[in-house]
Amino acid sequence: MKEQLENIYNSAKSDIEKAESINDIDAIRLRYLSRKGEFNSIKKGLKDLSDEDKRTIGALANKITQDLELLLKEKYDIFYQKELNEKLQHDRIDITLSGKYVSQGKVHPLTQTTKEIVSIFQNLGFSVVSSELSPEVETEYYNFDMLNVPKDHPARDVQDTFYVKDMPNVILRSQTSGAQIHVMETQKPPIKVISPGRVYRNENINARKNNFFHQIEGLYVDKDITFGDLKGVMNEFIRLYFGSARPTRFRSSFFPFTEPSAEIDVQCIMCQGKGCKICSGTGWLEILGAGMVDVNVLKGVGIDPDVYSGFAFGMGVERLAMLKYAIDDIRLFFNNDKRFLEQF
Ligand code: PHE
Repeated sequence: MKEQLENIYNSAKSDIEKAESINDIDAIRLRYLSRKGEFNSIKKGLKDLSDEDKRTIGALANKITQDLELLLKEKYDIFYQKELNEKLQHDRIDITLSGKYVSQGKVHPLTQTTKEIVSIFQNLGFSVVSSELSPEVETEYYNFDMLNVPKDHPARDVQDTFYVKDMPNVILRSQTSGAQIHVMETQKPPIKVISPGRVYRNENINARKNNFFHQIEGLYVDKDITFGDLKGVMNEFIRLYFGSARPTRFRSSFFPFTEPSAEIDVQCIMCQGKGCKICSGTGWLEILGAGMVDVNVLKGVGIDPDVYSGFAFGMGVERLAMLKYAIDDIRLFFNNDKRFLEQF
C-alpha cells in the first residue's frame, strides 16, 4: 500500500511538472485529490489494516496529499500570474494617447445675425410677431392685394413669384410685408413689431441672389408717428448693428405700401466711401427699404389714417450679414460647407 501511494505521488508529481495551464492543474487535482480521485480510493483500504499500519500509512497518505496540494498551489500561482500579466498587457489603456476629436455644432451665421438684429429691435421696444401671423405659404391677398400692390404689378408675375400648383392665389411669400397686414388685422395700435422669416423669389441664382432668403420686417403704428421717428430708429439700428454710427443716406424710392418710401444706404464699411468692389465703386451700400405706411394700407385693415400713422421697414438678413462680415457670395450660406460655417 505504501508503494501504491508512492507511485501515485510520483505520477502526480510528474503530471504537475508537465502541466502547462490552470486547466491542467485543475484536471490533475480532480484526478488525484478529489473525492472520486485516486488517493481517496486507496485511503478507503486503510480500514482493513492493522492499527500500527493505519497510523504509519495514514500519516504517509496525509503527508503526500499535503505535498501535492503545495506543488499544485505553487504551479497554479505561476500560471495565474502569467495569465494575469498577459491580460493586463492586452487590455492596457494608453493614457498618453490624445482623445478623439468631437466636432461641435454651431449656430448658423444667418441665425446668429437674425438673433442679433431681433435683439437690437427688442431693446428699442419692438416685439416679435408670432409665427401664425407670418406664414411662408401665403395668399396673394396678404402678400400683394392688402399691401396696395396693383393687380398688374410685375412682382406678381410667375417670373418673380412662386405660385403653388393647382391652388389659385396661393404663393410662397416674396416678402415678409404680409405680416404687417396679419398683425394690423388682429391688433389695434399702438403696434410696434418685427417679424423675421424666409421669403422666396423666382430668381436666377448667382453670387448676389438666391431663390430664397431671409427678411426682417418692422412695423410701428401709433398716434403721431413721423418720418423723423423712422430715421431715428434706423440710425440707431445701424449704429448698434455695425458697432458705430455710420454716415447714412435716405434715398427716395417707391413701394406700393409706403408713402413716402426710402431706401437706406450706409457708407461702405470696406472702403469708407472711397469706392470698392463690395460697393460697386459707389461708396454706399443699400441695406433696407422703408417708408410711412400708405394710407390705403391703413384703411384696408380698418385703422383710421386721420388718427394713426406709422412706418414700416424691411431688410435682408443675408445682405446685412454679407456687409458686416465681408462675404461676397450669398450661396455660401446654403452650401453647408463646414469650413465656411465654422468661422462664425
Ligand atoms: N418688402 C420690401 C422688399 O421686400 C421692403 C419694405 C418693407 C419696404 C417695408 C418698405 C416697407 O423689398
